[in-house]
Amino acid sequence: MTPIIEVRSLIKKYRVGTEIITALDGVDLQIKKGEFIAIVGTSGSGKSTLLNMMSGLERPTKGEIWINNILINKVKEKDMAAFRRSYMGFVFQSFNLLASLTALENAVLPLILQGMRSKERSKRGREMLKILGLENRMSNKPSQMSGGQQQRVSIARALINNPKIIFCDEPTGNLDTKTTKEIMELLTTTIKEKGQTLVMVTHDRDVAGYADRIIHMVDGIITSEENKGGVLVNEKVN
Ligand SMILES: Nc1ncnc2c1ncn2[C@@H]1O[C@H](COP(=O)(O)OP(=O)(O)O)[C@@H](O)[C@H]1O
Ligand SMILES: [Mg+2]
Repeated sequence: MTPIIEVRSLIKKYRVGTEIITALDGVDLQIKKGEFIAIVGTSGSGKSTLLNMMSGLERPTKGEIWINNILINKVKEKDMAAFRRSYMGFVFQSFNLLASLTALENAVLPLILQGMRSKERSKRGREMLKILGLENRMSNKPSQMSGGQQQRVSIARALINNPKIIFCDEPTGNLDTKTTKEIMELLTTTIKEKGQTLVMVTHDRDVAGYADRIIHMVDGIITSEENKGGVLVNEKVN
């Protein structure tokens, strides 16, 4: 079976003044449909850069990224937003909710961009928020919710389109241990039911423990990966 995500010889360099920073230094990675992958590594190891490349948010310096058999390097800038909307959902550490909108309005934003009618949108939004345990918070603004509740709204927003792939960058970074566990259980159950692919950057060992496979990054390369249960399946020696 062809992987849903394939990264080939990926290099990303940033120029800062006169200095060139190599954020990714030759990354190869294949992710199967329905897999939950955790990407771990110290701060600055290139995790977010890799995630941003795979999700088409940033362009590589060199190398290829295939999503569902489409070479996304070749997707034109003007088509990229629509491409991302139709394939992907996103969850970030800082929730990124709009402060002036209610939980329900935030959750259904992707459906507005998609042009869905208001009645159908609300119906779907309510269903999704209910799955995430927010049936009593539909009309609350972000400032009227806890961190865990806000992150559940952002997960609802990420899942509402039923995307093939969900990208999360440190989704539990601002949450306490108990809320982290709740969020991880909700997220894994929901995506496994639907066969969705989840790619999650985290520095939390316990969070990574929910994944089917853990990718370790150091200085812009993948140094090793382990399967569930901590079995080291592949270690690169330089
Ligand atoms: N937009 C940018 N401009 C310049 N340097 C960047 C940019 N984004 C990331 N970097 C650098 O690339 C490296 C990898 O960063 P990042 O992918 O954010 O790491 P991580 O998510 O693992 O903490 C770091 O050295 C970081 O400073
Ligand atoms: Mg990061």
